[in-house]
Amino acid sequence: MISDTEISGSPSAGHKVVGVEGVCKGFGKGHNRLEVLKNVNLEALTGEILMLVGPSGCGKTTLLSVIAGTLRVEAGEVVVFGEPLHRMPPAALTRFRSNHIGFIFQQFNLIPTISAAENVAVPLLIQGLPASKAVARARDMLAHVGIGDRWKERPNKLSGGEQQRVAIARALVHEPPLVICDEPTAALDAHNGEIVLELFRNVARSPDRAVIIVTHDNRIFSYADRIARMDDGEIIEVTHQDHPSAPHFVHEREHLITHP
Ligand SMILES: Nc1ncnc2c1ncn2[C@@H]1O[C@H](COP(=O)(O)OP(=O)(O)OP(=O)(O)O)[C@@H](O)[C@H]1O
Ligand SMILES: [Mg+2]
Repeated sequence: MISDTEISGSPSAGHKVVGVEGVCKGFGKGHNRLEVLKNVNLEALTGEILMLVGPSGCGKTTLLSVIAGTLRVEAGEVVVFGEPLHRMPPAALTRFRSNHIGFIFQQFNLIPTISAAENVAVPLLIQGLPASKAVARARDMLAHVGIGDRWKERPNKLSGGEQQRVAIARALVHEPPLVICDEPTAALDAHNGEIVLELFRNVARSPDRAVIIVTHDNRIFSYADRIARMDDGEIIEVTHQDHPSAPHFVHEREHLITHP
């Protein structure tokens, strides 16, 4: 097992931090069996935003969950920061996740009975920070995503876009080296989408961090360093994007498209 110090000190920009090799995962048995990931190979590098695109149901969320260690693979290897998640015992995996991965779920997964700030504070509390400090940092993070004044509200009092930003703040507050986002801009207008993408770019600018984003949102494609296309449980193409000009948010969402 490698320590935090070793992780933060070791990889340089462009170093492989996620390695998915020959991964297979299905659900159900017998006639109800559904093969979802079929021999998937993918890597993510430090210093990059990797976007994963593909039609609904092709396995994007399943693949993200495998990389985040919330879903076990049936075959293949998932190595994150040098650690083989596919072989890690459950308690070690939980600890690893809380220190190294910030996950923005497609359905937000906020805790309904506590405030926005308390939701955002959860990763810090898990790391052992005292509650008052954790909530103070959570409030700062909420201000960064433009909802500092909504910190006391419970999730059901917040709009979809506000809830999405609470989920984003929760994934970033403990500064994990790997940020994994499932449709992070689906509920956001152009202004707030731009703020959030700039936060992700800042994460990816760091030489020892990386961001993986699943998206159908054509407004944000220019922020990607690489785009992986997925179809029917397989990665069918990975393309690099040069950035001749600064990445920018396309303010009109003309239509949601599957492929860039
Ligand atoms: N826990 C589960 N049990 C059974 N089937 C599942 C489960 N999770 C996902 N699936 C199925 O696996 C397939 C891929 O689902 P997944 O959520 O990965 O797709 P997706 O590419 O993220 O789609 P979307 O773009 O709509 O979010 C779907 O057919 C889905 O019904
Ligand atoms: Mg999905």
